Amino acid sequence: MDPRTFDYIYLKNHGASDEEIGKELALSLEDIQLMEETLRPILKEIEAERPKAQSIGTDFARLTSNVYAQKSDQELGLLRPDAIKARSGEIFSLPAVGKLDFGQISLQDAISQRRSLRNYSEEPLSLEELSFLLYCSSWSRDFRSNERMEITFRNVPSAGSRHPIETFVNVRRVTGLKPGLYYYHPIKHCLILIDESPAVQTRILEGCFSQEMIQTAAANFIYTALPYRTTWRYGQRGYRYIYIDAGHVGQNLSLAAEAVGAGACMIGAYLDEALNDVLKIDGTQEFVIYVAAVGKK
Ligand SMILES: Cc1cc2nc3c(=O)[nH]c(=O)nc-3n(C[C@H](O)[C@H](O)[C@H](O)COP(=O)(O)O)c2cc1C
Repeated sequence: MDPRTFDYIYLKNHGASDEEIGKELALSLEDIQLMEETLRPILKEIEAERPKAQSIGTDFARLTSNVYAQKSDQELGLLRPDAIKARSGEIFSLPAVGKLDFGQISLQDAISQRRSLRNYSEEPLSLEELSFLLYCSSWSRDFRSNERMEITFRNVPSAGSRHPIETFVNVRRVTGLKPGLYYYHPIKHCLILIDESPAVQTRILEGCFSQEMIQTAAANFIYTALPYRTTWRYGQRGYRYIYIDAGHVGQNLSLAAEAVGAGACMIGAYLDEALNDVLKIDGTQEFVIYVAAVGKK
């Protein structure tokens, strides 16, 4: 889909005039009229759902209380979901976890120094440093699989150890890696190249509302959630847990960044549809849940 489509829908629903949209997206008024016609069904659908959207927060908190819960799919004996989603592409190995040594900073210092960092030096992250960041936040130290259960154990906690969060790395300045979008395999501790086109860099930047740190970061971490891994066990209440799980990942990443002389800024301001589209995920069974920019101080 034309990436400007998502921006158009966003701006239109924020009440921007056609002139303002045209200026923002560098589109002629004819282009905008054409877009409006093509997107009319989507715009109508959004309008119809707006009242529901306005109360979704309170409904979400209330209706995911345990008193509403019935037997989960796991309790009903439904097939267990996989713990890892298969992705294909060129594989890049990372320095082995056992050889990483970034113990120079105390935990107390890492915690007290942590601030959101939005200005980075031009120094790249080394492959060892990237490996360490991934080890701290996303690596799977154990994997067990049988017919009834497939499970990973990681350096971050997760409800029922369901670990619904997956990690993509948007490499911009990492020694030994070409810029692009990679998937991190938490068991094999390697990166899988998903997209190395220059367009992917621009689309990630624009998907995060052009926040400058995305462009100047050495790497951006894009976290997705596969909710069924958790809802299979906990039903709709599982949706609460995946957001909590993402917070743990973000905090470990932030503290690990301190340990390698870098800083992180967590990012929640992104256009879901745009980033899901870049990652080629459907936005329902898998969707972007959190983003973090990381760069050297
Ligand atoms: C869920 C979440 C979303 C955030 N989204 C953004 C963002 O989109 N852009 C940004 O510049 N900072 C973002 N931040 C960073 C906060 O602005 C920052 O944590 C806050 O101002 C406190 O500053 P500190 O992290 O330096 O203590 C986000 C933080 C969190 C936890």
